[in-house]
Amino acid sequence: MSLRGKVVIITGSSSGIGADAARHLAKLGAKVSIVGRNEKRVSEVVDQIKKSGAPTPLPIVTDVTKDAQRIIDETIEHFGRLDVLVNSAGAFGADSVAYFDVEKFDSILDTNVRSVIILTNLAVPHLEKTKGNIINVSSVCGLRPFDYMTSYCISKAGLDQFTKCSAIALAPKGIRVNSINPATIRTPIFEQIGINESNENQFYEDRKHEFLVDRVGEVSDTSSAIAYLASETFLTGVLLPIDGGLTCAGIRSELNRFTF
Ligand SMILES: NC(=O)c1ccc[n+]([C@@H]2O[C@H](COP(=O)([O-])OP(=O)(O)OC[C@H]3O[C@@H](n4cnc5c(N)ncnc54)[C@H](OP(=O)(O)O)[C@@H]3O)[C@@H](O)[C@H]2O)c1
Repeated sequence: MSLRGKVVIITGSSSGIGADAARHLAKLGAKVSIVGRNEKRVSEVVDQIKKSGAPTPLPIVTDVTKDAQRIIDETIEHFGRLDVLVNSAGAFGADSVAYFDVEKFDSILDTNVRSVIILTNLAVPHLEKTKGNIINVSSVCGLRPFDYMTSYCISKAGLDQFTKCSAIALAPKGIRVNSINPATIRTPIFEQIGINESNENQFYEDRKHEFLVDRVGEVSDTSSAIAYLASETFLTGVLLPIDGGLTCAGIRSELNRFTF
């Protein structure tokens, strides 16, 4: 697979799923805009890509909820075109109807849905010229409920409807829109719910029994899916679970199973 010469914006590419996708797509020849709020982490990803010999990426240090226009403008000014928009920046958090914080809800929705809609709207004229595509990084939380992540589930379900509505609306312009919907992928996102160096091995060990494939996901799993969707595929309006079988079987350890 080659993405030689393709220009790709990846939000949330200073860490985790977005950072690995940036390294992977750059290795396939793409010119990538690296977007995040943390300047140091943005620079580290830019340096890693430069050192790998891939095309030099463009760092854009900004908040997706505040400065979508700058992300598009700087990319077009620097690279001259846009082929793929990957919306990976995301806010995460644990809550439920009984433990609800309206400010946190607003902040999760702002990052995971509102900013994606604004960025997509601004990207459309450029993607129309290249017959490009959009990949939203959603979650299995968009596909099924987890009561202890209520706001996050609502945000990803909303994002999934946006993916499908946009796929229909943008098809006449030649733009495809898809999402990946990962389950547990090993990234720093879980620091937000208290997972750190001291307890992460146990956390992932406990989680792996939830999946048919008996392991949690790695960023290589999401990067290969993003690269596939970014290439010339027949797919649009697809919500692709990257989930070790979770949406097929439910959480394995919760099943009342017979043993044969
Ligand atoms: N890891 C999983 O198990 C998992 C599963 C399903 C879905 N997801 C989704 O995957 C996406 C990436 O998560 P991850 O696991 O890679 O987490 P991560 O390692 O914590 O990365 C999150 C990224 O989002 C960026 N970000 C967050 N808010 C931002 C904002 N307002 N403006 C600009 N950038 C922002 C962060 O950059 P800065 O800190 O530099 O701003 C960082 O690069 C999220 O949408 C998440 O919901 C993750």
